Amino acid sequence: MFSVALLGASGLLGRAIADALADRAEWRVVRTAHRRVGDTSVQLDIRDAAAVHAFIGHTEPDAIVIAAAERRPDVCERDPALARALNVDAVRSVAAAARRRGAWVLSISTDYVFDGTHPPYHCDDPPAPLNAYGRSKLEGERALLETTELGCVLRLPLLFGPIVDWQESAVTSLVPAIAASALPDAKAAVMDAWATRYPTFTPDVAFVIRQMLEHHARGDAICGIAQWSGAEPMTKLDIASRLAEALQLDARLTPQHTPVDATPRPRDCHLDSSRLEALGIGRRTPFNEAIRQVLGAFPWRP
Ligand SMILES: NC(=O)c1ccc[n+]([C@@H]2O[C@H](COP(=O)([O-])OP(=O)(O)OC[C@H]3O[C@@H](n4cnc5c(N)ncnc54)[C@H](OP(=O)(O)O)[C@@H]3O)[C@@H](O)[C@H]2O)c1
Repeated sequence: MFSVALLGASGLLGRAIADALADRAEWRVVRTAHRRVGDTSVQLDIRDAAAVHAFIGHTEPDAIVIAAAERRPDVCERDPALARALNVDAVRSVAAAARRRGAWVLSISTDYVFDGTHPPYHCDDPPAPLNAYGRSKLEGERALLETTELGCVLRLPLLFGPIVDWQESAVTSLVPAIAASALPDAKAAVMDAWATRYPTFTPDVAFVIRQMLEHHARGDAICGIAQWSGAEPMTKLDIASRLAEALQLDARLTPQHTPVDATPRPRDCHLDSSRLEALGIGRRTPFNEAIRQVLGAFPWRP
């Protein structure tokens, strides 16, 4: 039986991956969580190298997917030691345990490894991260690829998908401000119109990861660096307009044409997805359809 260990199954992306693998009856999927441990997951702190080695020794996976990380740029900026522990050192210890077992490791990375000045970015373009999050994820990529030859980095852009909290994704986190701006006499909500993002639906990413796992299960593991991205360029102002339309809110939105974030962020990191596309891998749900699914399952209640 093909066995998969999914680390970080309780997160935004991890839950979508768990859903996408659930109907593979002939696959055994062991899910881990850190604080949000449920009936279907086991507790694992991936910063604990001995616990990671014991877990992988005990579960004997053929493939390991690392969806656990510290992904909030502001937290990484404030606490680079935490960012390093999770995004670099933990990836290295998972990779070392995987190598000992002969397991393939897929580790999720980000478009923030690039500086956003020369899109689109191909897998082998030189990275130049602008912030602590991007630097830690780039170091994590290198830690994985230095430690095992049976490793793959999958870079992704801004994610959105089924949520349990509005703040879980930088797409849905705009909803409270959009809704507040629609109240009588409310001020307009200021939305970034400087940076271009490619919001990517987590169930589509999960489908891509399932296809990558199928490749490995067939004995044709994809190694090195791969990238996947949605195809619709949008500023946060565009995303907010689409959200307002889907929520049927008469929102007042005003553009911010220069960056104001305390943490520096890249302007446009469009990721080229052609390596996976050439293998027949991929799925892209149109943004409007995807966001209606998300909002339908988690309705806005003022
Ligand atoms: N979100 C985005 O827009 C985005 C964009 C590009 C790339 N990515 C990358 O995609 C991956 C998944 O991100 P996400 O948005 O799904 O993140 P998330 O929702 O914040 O989930 C993080 C996951 O990491 C787990 N975790 C945290 N600390 C841990 C620890 N010490 N030991 C073990 N597990 C721990 C969490 O478990 P508990 O919740 O149970 O504590 C949770 O399952 C990350 O590599 C991220 O860098 C995300």
